[in-house]
Amino acid sequence: MVPITFTEILQNSKQIFDSFFESYTPTLFSPKSRITEACLYSLKAGGKRVRPIFVLNSFFEPNKLTQSIETQNHSVLLASLAVECIHTYSLIHDDLPAMDDDDTRRGKPTCHKQFDEATAILAGDTLNSLSFYLLSMMDSEDPFLIRDAIQILHKGAGLKGMIQGQMEDIEEEKNPSKTDQESKLLSIHEKKTGALIESSFLLGNRLRPDWKERESVLSSYAKEIGLLFQITDDILDVEGNLEELGKTPGKDAKAGKLTYPSLYGMEKTKSLRSESVNKAISLATELSSMNHEFFLGLPKYIAERKN
Ligand code: IPE
Ligand code: IPE
Ligand code: MG
Ligand code: MG
Ligand code: MG
Repeated sequence: MVPITFTEILQNSKQIFDSFFESYTPTLFSPKSRITEACLYSLKAGGKRVRPIFVLNSFFEPNKLTQSIETQNHSVLLASLAVECIHTYSLIHDDLPAMDDDDTRRGKPTCHKQFDEATAILAGDTLNSLSFYLLSMMDSEDPFLIRDAIQILHKGAGLKGMIQGQMEDIEEEKNPSKTDQESKLLSIHEKKTGALIESSFLLGNRLRPDWKERESVLSSYAKEIGLLFQITDDILDVEGNLEELGKTPGKDAKAGKLTYPSLYGMEKTKSLRSESVNKAISLATELSSMNHEFFLGLPKYIAERKN
Protein backbone atom coordinates (compact mmCIF):
# COMPACT_ATOMS: atom_id res chain seq x y z
CA MET A 1 0.00 0.00 0.00
CA VAL A 2 1.27 3.50 -0.85
CA PRO A 3 1.94 5.46 2.35
CA ILE A 4 -0.64 8.17 2.87
CA THR A 5 0.62 11.70 3.59
CA PHE A 6 -0.55 14.13 6.26
CA THR A 7 -2.28 16.31 3.66
CA GLU A 8 -4.13 13.33 2.22
CA ILE A 9 -5.23 12.21 5.68
CA LEU A 10 -6.48 15.73 6.40
CA GLN A 11 -8.41 15.89 3.11
CA ASN A 12 -9.85 12.40 3.49
CA SER A 13 -11.03 12.99 7.02
CA LYS A 14 -12.58 16.35 6.12
CA GLN A 15 -14.36 14.68 3.23
CA ILE A 16 -15.72 11.95 5.50
CA PHE A 17 -17.03 14.59 7.89
CA ASP A 18 -18.52 16.67 5.06
CA SER A 19 -20.34 13.66 3.56
CA PHE A 20 -21.78 12.72 6.93
CA PHE A 21 -22.79 16.33 7.55
CA GLU A 22 -24.56 16.52 4.19
CA SER A 23 -26.43 13.29 4.73
CA TYR A 24 -27.31 13.67 8.41
CA THR A 25 -28.19 17.33 8.96
CA PRO A 26 -31.26 17.72 6.71
CA THR A 27 -33.30 15.45 9.00
CA LEU A 28 -31.65 16.75 12.15
CA PHE A 29 -32.61 20.32 11.30
CA SER A 30 -36.12 19.78 10.04
CA PRO A 31 -38.70 21.11 9.77
CA LYS A 32 -37.35 24.36 8.44
CA SER A 33 -37.74 27.29 10.84
CA ARG A 34 -35.95 30.50 11.70
CA ILE A 35 -33.88 28.70 14.32
CA THR A 36 -32.89 25.75 12.11
CA GLU A 37 -31.96 28.24 9.38
CA ALA A 38 -29.72 30.12 11.82
CA CYS A 39 -28.06 26.89 13.04
CA LEU A 40 -27.40 25.72 9.49
CA TYR A 41 -26.22 29.16 8.40
CA SER A 42 -23.42 29.11 10.98
CA LEU A 43 -22.65 25.41 10.63
CA LYS A 44 -22.32 25.70 6.86
CA ALA A 45 -20.45 29.00 6.79
CA GLY A 46 -17.15 27.22 6.11
CA GLY A 47 -15.14 26.24 9.17
CA LYS A 48 -11.94 24.22 8.91
CA ARG A 49 -13.59 21.30 10.76
CA VAL A 50 -10.41 20.61 12.71
CA ARG A 51 -12.19 19.30 15.80
CA PRO A 52 -14.19 16.64 13.89
CA ILE A 53 -10.95 15.77 12.10
CA PHE A 54 -9.31 15.23 15.52
CA VAL A 55 -12.19 12.96 16.56
CA LEU A 56 -11.90 10.86 13.40
CA ASN A 57 -8.13 10.57 13.50
CA SER A 58 -8.04 9.54 17.15
CA PHE A 59 -10.28 6.65 16.24
CA PHE A 60 -9.32 5.52 12.74
CA GLU A 61 -6.17 4.42 11.09
CA PRO A 62 -5.53 6.46 7.92
CA ASN A 63 -6.33 3.64 5.47
CA LYS A 64 -9.87 3.50 6.88
CA LEU A 65 -10.35 7.15 5.93
CA THR A 66 -10.02 6.35 2.25
CA GLN A 67 -13.08 4.10 2.42
CA SER A 68 -16.61 5.19 1.66
CA ILE A 69 -18.89 6.86 4.19
CA GLU A 70 -21.25 3.87 4.28
CA THR A 71 -18.53 1.68 5.75
CA GLN A 72 -17.58 4.14 8.50
CA ASN A 73 -18.40 3.67 12.15
CA HIS A 74 -21.60 5.61 12.84
CA SER A 75 -20.76 6.49 16.45
CA VAL A 76 -17.51 8.22 15.55
CA LEU A 77 -19.35 10.26 12.90
CA LEU A 78 -21.94 11.31 15.49
CA ALA A 79 -19.17 12.30 17.89
CA SER A 80 -17.44 14.35 15.19
CA LEU A 81 -20.67 16.22 14.48
CA ALA A 82 -21.25 16.74 18.20
CA VAL A 83 -17.93 18.58 18.63
CA GLU A 84 -18.52 20.72 15.54
CA CYS A 85 -21.97 21.69 16.86
CA ILE A 86 -20.64 22.68 20.25
CA HIS A 87 -17.72 24.55 18.68
CA THR A 88 -20.06 26.43 16.31
CA TYR A 89 -22.29 27.39 19.24
CA SER A 90 -19.19 28.74 21.04
CA LEU A 91 -18.34 30.90 18.01
CA ILE A 92 -21.89 32.26 17.68
CA HIS A 93 -21.90 33.29 21.34
CA ASP A 94 -18.26 34.49 21.28
CA ASP A 95 -19.19 36.94 18.49
CA LEU A 96 -22.18 38.46 20.31
CA PRO A 97 -22.01 42.17 21.25
CA ALA A 98 -21.85 41.22 24.95
CA MET A 99 -18.73 39.15 24.27
CA ASP A 100 -16.25 39.94 21.45
CA ASP A 101 -18.72 41.89 19.33
CA ASP A 102 -17.62 40.64 15.92
CA ASP A 103 -19.33 41.26 12.58
CA THR A 104 -17.65 38.60 10.44
CA ARG A 105 -17.14 34.90 11.01
CA ARG A 106 -16.08 32.20 8.57
CA GLY A 107 -16.09 34.86 5.86
CA LYS A 108 -19.73 35.76 6.36
CA PRO A 109 -21.76 38.10 8.60
CA THR A 110 -21.88 36.70 12.13
CA CYS A 111 -25.08 34.92 13.16
CA HIS A 112 -26.45 37.90 15.11
CA LYS A 113 -25.73 40.22 12.14
CA GLN A 114 -27.39 37.93 9.64
CA PHE A 115 -30.38 37.20 11.90
CA ASP A 116 -30.59 39.08 15.22
CA GLU A 117 -29.19 38.71 18.72
CA ALA A 118 -32.05 36.71 20.17
CA THR A 119 -31.92 34.24 17.27
CA ALA A 120 -28.14 33.93 17.60
CA ILE A 121 -28.39 33.20 21.33
CA LEU A 122 -31.05 30.57 20.70
CA ALA A 123 -29.14 29.03 17.78
CA GLY A 124 -26.12 28.67 20.10
CA ASP A 125 -28.31 27.12 22.80
CA THR A 126 -29.75 24.71 20.22
CA LEU A 127 -26.33 23.55 19.02
CA ASN A 128 -25.09 23.16 22.58
CA SER A 129 -27.87 20.81 23.66
CA LEU A 130 -27.88 19.07 20.28
CA SER A 131 -24.28 17.95 20.82
CA PHE A 132 -25.21 15.91 23.86
CA TYR A 133 -28.22 14.49 22.04
CA LEU A 134 -25.93 13.35 19.21
CA LEU A 135 -23.71 11.54 21.71
CA SER A 136 -26.76 9.85 23.17
CA MET A 137 -27.45 8.37 19.70
CA MET A 138 -24.17 6.46 19.64
CA ASP A 139 -24.45 2.73 19.46
CA SER A 140 -22.10 0.37 21.27
CA GLU A 141 -21.94 -2.84 23.24
CA ASP A 142 -19.93 -0.96 25.86
CA PRO A 143 -22.52 0.15 28.46
CA PHE A 144 -20.28 2.98 29.68
CA LEU A 145 -19.47 4.52 26.32
CA ILE A 146 -22.24 7.12 26.19
CA ARG A 147 -21.78 8.09 29.83
CA ASP A 148 -18.02 8.56 29.32
CA ALA A 149 -18.48 10.45 26.04
CA ILE A 150 -20.92 12.89 27.68
CA GLN A 151 -18.47 13.44 30.51
CA ILE A 152 -15.55 13.99 28.12
CA LEU A 153 -17.51 16.59 26.14
CA HIS A 154 -18.82 18.27 29.26
CA LYS A 155 -15.32 18.50 30.73
CA GLY A 156 -14.08 20.34 27.64
CA ALA A 157 -17.05 22.54 26.88
CA GLY A 158 -18.64 23.05 30.29
CA LEU A 159 -18.16 24.81 33.57
CA LYS A 160 -14.51 23.88 34.14
CA GLY A 161 -13.54 24.02 30.46
CA MET A 162 -14.52 26.40 27.68
CA ILE A 163 -17.16 28.30 29.68
CA GLN A 164 -14.70 29.07 32.47
CA GLY A 165 -12.06 30.07 29.89
CA GLN A 166 -14.49 32.42 28.16
CA MET A 167 -15.45 33.91 31.53
CA GLU A 168 -11.80 34.50 32.45
CA ASP A 169 -11.13 36.02 28.99
CA ILE A 170 -13.97 38.52 29.41
CA GLU A 171 -13.14 39.31 33.06
CA GLU A 172 -9.51 39.89 32.11
CA GLU A 173 -10.58 42.27 29.35
CA LYS A 174 -12.74 44.27 31.77
CA ASN A 175 -10.41 44.13 34.75
CA PRO A 176 -6.84 43.25 33.70
CA SER A 177 -4.63 41.34 36.18
CA LYS A 178 -1.81 43.36 37.67
CA THR A 179 0.28 40.33 38.61
CA ASP A 180 0.86 36.81 37.39
CA GLN A 181 -0.36 37.53 33.87
CA GLU A 182 1.56 34.54 32.48
CA SER A 183 -0.40 32.00 34.45
CA LYS A 184 -3.66 33.87 33.79
CA LEU A 185 -2.99 33.79 30.03
CA LEU A 186 -2.17 30.10 30.13
CA SER A 187 -5.33 29.40 32.12
CA ILE A 188 -7.50 31.31 29.61
CA HIS A 189 -6.00 29.58 26.58
CA GLU A 190 -6.05 26.10 28.08
CA LYS A 191 -9.69 26.44 29.02
CA LYS A 192 -11.33 28.55 26.31
CA THR A 193 -9.72 26.65 23.41
CA GLY A 194 -7.55 23.78 24.66
CA ALA A 195 -10.23 22.01 26.65
CA LEU A 196 -12.62 21.36 23.73
CA ILE A 197 -9.71 20.39 21.48
CA GLU A 198 -8.62 17.85 24.10
CA SER A 199 -12.19 16.50 24.30
CA SER A 200 -12.18 16.02 20.52
CA PHE A 201 -9.13 13.75 20.64
CA LEU A 202 -10.37 11.88 23.70
CA LEU A 203 -13.85 11.29 22.25
CA GLY A 204 -12.50 9.56 19.15
CA ASN A 205 -10.11 7.57 21.30
CA ARG A 206 -12.83 6.52 23.75
CA LEU A 207 -14.58 4.63 20.95
CA ARG A 208 -11.61 2.29 20.54
CA PRO A 209 -11.32 -0.98 22.48
CA ASP A 210 -7.74 -0.03 23.49
CA TRP A 211 -8.71 3.49 24.61
CA LYS A 212 -7.37 3.16 28.16
CA GLU A 213 -3.75 2.52 27.17
CA ARG A 214 -3.65 5.52 24.86
CA GLU A 215 -5.57 8.08 26.87
CA SER A 216 -2.83 9.61 29.00
CA VAL A 217 -0.28 10.36 26.27
CA LEU A 218 -3.01 11.41 23.84
CA SER A 219 -4.28 13.84 26.44
CA SER A 220 -0.82 15.44 26.86
CA TYR A 221 -0.48 15.71 23.09
CA ALA A 222 -3.98 17.21 22.75
CA LYS A 223 -3.28 19.80 25.46
CA GLU A 224 -0.18 20.96 23.58
CA ILE A 225 -2.11 21.12 20.29
CA GLY A 226 -4.81 23.19 22.04
CA LEU A 227 -2.30 25.71 23.34
CA LEU A 228 -0.54 25.88 19.98
CA PHE A 229 -3.89 26.43 18.29
CA GLN A 230 -4.70 29.49 20.42
CA ILE A 231 -1.16 30.95 20.24
CA THR A 232 -1.54 30.78 16.45
CA ASP A 233 -5.03 32.32 16.66
CA ASP A 234 -3.55 35.23 18.66
CA ILE A 235 -0.78 35.69 16.04
CA LEU A 236 -3.30 35.61 13.19
CA ASP A 237 -5.36 38.31 14.90
CA VAL A 238 -2.29 40.56 14.56
CA GLU A 239 -0.90 39.43 11.21
CA GLY A 240 -3.87 38.02 9.32
CA ASN A 241 -6.16 39.74 6.86
CA LEU A 242 -9.95 39.62 6.68
CA GLU A 243 -10.00 37.81 3.36
CA GLU A 244 -7.89 34.86 4.45
CA LEU A 245 -8.96 34.80 8.10
CA GLY A 246 -12.70 35.08 7.48
CA LYS A 247 -12.92 37.19 10.64
CA THR A 248 -11.86 40.77 11.42
CA PRO A 249 -8.19 41.02 12.47
CA GLY A 250 -6.88 43.47 15.07
CA LYS A 251 -9.79 42.90 17.43
CA ASP A 252 -7.75 41.60 20.37
CA ALA A 253 -5.56 44.70 20.69
CA LYS A 254 -8.59 46.97 20.28
CA ALA A 255 -10.45 45.17 23.05
CA GLY A 256 -7.34 45.07 25.27
CA LYS A 257 -7.35 41.25 25.43
CA LEU A 258 -4.60 39.39 27.24
CA THR A 259 -2.95 37.41 24.41
CA TYR A 260 0.48 35.97 23.58
CA PRO A 261 1.49 38.97 21.44
CA SER A 262 0.18 41.49 24.01
CA LEU A 263 2.10 39.86 26.85
CA TYR A 264 5.29 38.69 25.14
CA GLY A 265 5.58 40.73 21.92
CA MET A 266 5.56 39.09 18.50
CA GLU A 267 9.14 37.82 18.39
CA LYS A 268 8.92 35.92 21.68
CA THR A 269 5.40 34.72 20.79
CA LYS A 270 6.76 33.13 17.62
CA SER A 271 9.58 31.44 19.47
CA LEU A 272 7.05 30.11 22.02
CA ARG A 273 5.00 28.85 19.07
CA SER A 274 8.06 26.96 17.74
CA GLU A 275 8.69 25.50 21.20
CA SER A 276 5.11 24.31 21.30
CA VAL A 277 5.42 22.73 17.83
CA ASN A 278 8.53 20.83 19.00
CA LYS A 279 6.85 19.68 22.20
CA ALA A 280 3.85 18.41 20.26
CA ILE A 281 6.07 16.59 17.73
CA SER A 282 7.98 14.95 20.54
CA LEU A 283 4.72 13.82 22.19
CA ALA A 284 3.59 12.51 18.77
CA THR A 285 6.56 10.17 18.69
CA GLU A 286 5.14 8.52 21.82
CA LEU A 287 1.97 7.88 19.84
CA SER A 288 3.89 6.05 17.16
CA SER A 289 1.68 2.97 17.18
CA MET A 290 -1.35 4.94 16.00
CA ASN A 291 -2.03 7.13 12.98
CA HIS A 292 1.52 8.40 13.25
CA GLU A 293 1.62 10.44 10.04
CA PHE A 294 -1.35 12.52 11.18
CA PHE A 295 -0.16 13.23 14.71
CA LEU A 296 3.33 14.04 13.51
CA GLY A 297 2.23 16.40 10.74
CA LEU A 298 -0.49 18.20 12.71
CA PRO A 299 1.62 20.62 14.84
CA LYS A 300 3.19 22.28 11.78
CA TYR A 301 -0.16 22.50 10.04
CA ILE A 302 -1.68 24.23 13.08
CA ALA A 303 1.26 26.64 13.42
CA GLU A 304 1.42 27.52 9.72
CA ARG A 305 -2.30 27.90 9.04
CA LYS A 306 -3.54 31.18 7.61
CA ASN A 307 -7.06 30.98 8.99
C1 IPE B 1 -11.77 29.64 16.18
O1 IPE B 1 -11.69 28.27 15.92
C2 IPE B 1 -11.97 29.85 17.64
C3 IPE B 1 -10.86 29.43 18.47
C4 IPE B 1 -11.01 28.58 19.42
C5 IPE B 1 -9.56 30.00 18.28
P1 IPE B 1 -11.32 27.75 14.47
O2 IPE B 1 -10.09 28.47 13.99
O3 IPE B 1 -11.24 26.27 14.50
O4 IPE B 1 -12.56 28.24 13.61
P2 IPE B 1 -13.31 27.57 12.37
O5 IPE B 1 -14.12 26.44 12.91
O6 IPE B 1 -12.28 27.11 11.38
O7 IPE B 1 -14.17 28.67 11.84
C1 IPE C 1 -12.38 31.88 21.11
O1 IPE C 1 -11.31 32.67 21.33
C2 IPE C 1 -12.62 30.80 22.02
C3 IPE C 1 -13.99 30.28 21.89
C4 IPE C 1 -14.47 29.53 22.78
C5 IPE C 1 -14.85 30.61 20.75
P1 IPE C 1 -11.29 33.95 20.39
O2 IPE C 1 -12.30 34.94 20.81
O3 IPE C 1 -9.87 34.40 20.28
O4 IPE C 1 -11.72 33.31 18.98
P2 IPE C 1 -11.91 34.14 17.65
O5 IPE C 1 -10.59 34.82 17.37
O6 IPE C 1 -13.02 35.11 17.87
O7 IPE C 1 -12.21 33.10 16.62
MG1 MG D 1 -13.34 35.46 22.53
MG1 MG E 1 -13.59 36.12 19.51
MG1 MG F 1 -8.95 35.07 18.48
